Amino acid sequence: MTELNIMSNVCFGENSLDALRRYNNKNIIIYTDPFLAENHKVDAVLSKLEGNNCFVYSNIAPDPSIEQVGACYKFAKEHDADVFIAFGGGSAIDTAKAVIYVDADVNPGKKIELVAIPTTSGTGSEATDFSVISDKENGVKYPIVDKKMAPDLAVLCAEFTVSVPPAVTAATGMDVITHLLEAYVSTGSNIITDSLAEKGLVLAFDNLYKAYKDGGDLSARENMLMASYIAGLAFNNAGLGITHSIAHGLGANFHISHGTANAMVLPYVIAFNSCLDVPFGMDKSVAAQKYAIAYNKIGYESLGTRLSVMSFIKKINEMLRLMKLPTTLVELGVSREAFEKAKPVIVKSALADVCTTSNPRVPKEKDIENILDRLFSGM
Ligand SMILES: NC(=O)c1ccc[n+]([C@@H]2O[C@H](COP(=O)([O-])OP(=O)(O)OC[C@H]3O[C@@H](n4cnc5c(N)ncnc54)[C@H](O)[C@@H]3O)[C@@H](O)[C@H]2O)c1
Ligand SMILES: [Fe+2]
Repeated sequence: MTELNIMSNVCFGENSLDALRRYNNKNIIIYTDPFLAENHKVDAVLSKLEGNNCFVYSNIAPDPSIEQVGACYKFAKEHDADVFIAFGGGSAIDTAKAVIYVDADVNPGKKIELVAIPTTSGTGSEATDFSVISDKENGVKYPIVDKKMAPDLAVLCAEFTVSVPPAVTAATGMDVITHLLEAYVSTGSNIITDSLAEKGLVLAFDNLYKAYKDGGDLSARENMLMASYIAGLAFNNAGLGITHSIAHGLGANFHISHGTANAMVLPYVIAFNSCLDVPFGMDKSVAAQKYAIAYNKIGYESLGTRLSVMSFIKKINEMLRLMKLPTTLVELGVSREAFEKAKPVIVKSALADVCTTSNPRVPKEKDIENILDRLFSGM
């Protein structure tokens, strides 16, 4: 039996923010980051919430830590929250989700509603019951998965994403592409998640570079926001893979943004999953065949499995270069010493990461090490 978990409500298109008018006489907390608060973006959200008691927590920092979740939980208790509005990128949404997770444990009687308004087109967190929390002390990022954290409502409003700078557009957009490709080849994929992934890939490959080149291109922004949501739906059901497992360790140890880390690792994982390192391995690799289908779906001529997979890897590397994303750890200033020290920690956490369980090829310690070694200097 395959059970699909489709999230509840999503509003998109013109006037989607009006969906917030459904609340009246509630204690509402808006979790957001300093950029969105200082640039008055949050005012557009507040303007739809007349008749409620609203409290803005504007201190959300990237890569939510256990300490940040604790501070946000305290704020929620102080204001007896009924509703959370997570207004921001994955960091704001994941923080609000983690607070709900904690609250459900401490306070099982009362369910705080969660509205997610993503302002980056990246994590798809508005469509998932995943939250990624960092244990900064031990250099580990933990994905928590629990249905209690699923947003009750997602509001997709592309206007908010127009101000995302090119470097963040590139990184978060590569996170979308990674979600779609990992969900597509995952052992948990099925006909519905494949349909979502295929549509999402077409949208993302057609629009990411446009949004990067011209942040004001609203049509490209709308399509990326939709691709991000669709990707969330796909991976929430199909699962992810070792690009994410390795990226979590890189992010926790070297403070590389989530999307950048995924972008750097993705080409190596496509090669690994396709068994490029195993003589005649590709012929038996279902993942290789699916990458080849995906390459064809995004508009390239079918070249047979081997050539399609290799061209796809080349295409992704070309995108990274065009959008000025790093491709090696050396480029990011990571020293050999720091790398060798963190490597065993990253390998261990990657093998234990929940995302590894749905990777199409089961990795051994040595496989993760090989990927990391090549990522260090590109050799
Ligand atoms: N829950 C999930 O399913 C899931 C999936 C993937 C990643 N994640 C997690 O999400 C986090 C990353 O989220 P993210 O990539 O969206 O980044 P983010 O939320 O950390 O934001 C990145 C930067 O972009 C800025 N920003 C956000 N919106 C903006 C806007 N509209 N205009 C200008 N600047 C804006 C923020 O201020 C911040 O500096 C990581 O912790 C990652 O591990 C979660
Ligand atoms: Fe991700």
